[in-house]
Amino acid sequence: MLEIQFSKLRLKNPFMNASGILGVASSTLEEVGRYAGAVVSKSCGSEERKGYANPTVVAFEGGLLNALGLPNPGIEEFGRELEQYYRACKTPVIGSVFGGSAREFAALAKRMASHGVQAIELNLSCPHAKGYGTEIGADPANVTAVSRSVKRAVKVPVFAKLTPNTDDFGALATAAKRGGADGITAINTVKAMRIDVDLRRPVLTSVYGGLSGRAILPIGVRCVHEAYAATVGKLPILGAGGIESWRDAVEYLLAGASAVQLGTVLAHSSPKIIEEFCDGLRTYVKAEGFRDVGELVGAAHKA
Ligand SMILES: Cc1cc2nc3c(=O)[nH]c(=O)nc-3n(C[C@H](O)[C@H](O)[C@H](O)COP(=O)(O)O)c2cc1C
Repeated sequence: MLEIQFSKLRLKNPFMNASGILGVASSTLEEVGRYAGAVVSKSCGSEERKGYANPTVVAFEGGLLNALGLPNPGIEEFGRELEQYYRACKTPVIGSVFGGSAREFAALAKRMASHGVQAIELNLSCPHAKGYGTEIGADPANVTAVSRSVKRAVKVPVFAKLTPNTDDFGALATAAKRGGADGITAINTVKAMRIDVDLRRPVLTSVYGGLSGRAILPIGVRCVHEAYAATVGKLPILGAGGIESWRDAVEYLLAGASAVQLGTVLAHSSPKIIEEFCDGLRTYVKAEGFRDVGELVGAAHKA
């Protein structure tokens, strides 16, 4: 009842982690893989990056504000983590990559695919790393160009993770489709900042960061709804942003997502909550008279 087909991936349920929240260690991915339909890696670049100096994460009542600066061990070291993961867990992995150009994205995706991942997620949406993420992915022409060059480089499905920091999210989704992307992830964090009133200066070292968690749920749902409408339901969508319960996940499905990613909620709950979310979703599907979870996808557009 919860099993889904997402592009070429057959998933035991529509839940996965969102990239980056849990770091890169294979042991953490294994823990998620025990419960989730798929696991998503932290975004990897060509070389090791240390990220920004602290403070890089601030918690507040609405969620988290972060500007880690894309720290990662580099694609080669990450390959070794993946080898360990696959020895312990068979749940499909979506490998996330970030590059500074279409060419770099394609080379990284090819390397990531050679490490055995079942799909690639393109981080076109990190709002706080100079030369990467939103700086590239806010322009629909770049989204098309990167998607196209990665599609030429790999055989596995490619999902473009898009930024909500734009006035026309539907145009970004259409651009990904035009480039041949097999799906999109919506959304990455929302550009934001906080100021320390005692020190009278920005809290984050990098000044601006990305907002995640509860506060962004309605933004994520709106973006998924716009993307589904703009692509007439023809581009599979992974919904993300502020999901803290199975009901939040249902909201994303009704807006047009076929599966969802859990981010900030996993910073303070064990991945075991995915079991609880599956139980809630299964009960809802049955009680509302649907045959399976797929029947919920985009249902709010028919209303
Ligand atoms: C600490 C932290 C690190 C993140 N790292 C990445 C990353 O490496 N790549 C990426 O595409 N998104 C990254 N994200 C964004 C999340 O994957 C997700 O899109 C976003 O947090 C919204 O979901 P949420 O509200 O459930 O957290 C990160 C978010 C946080 C809070």
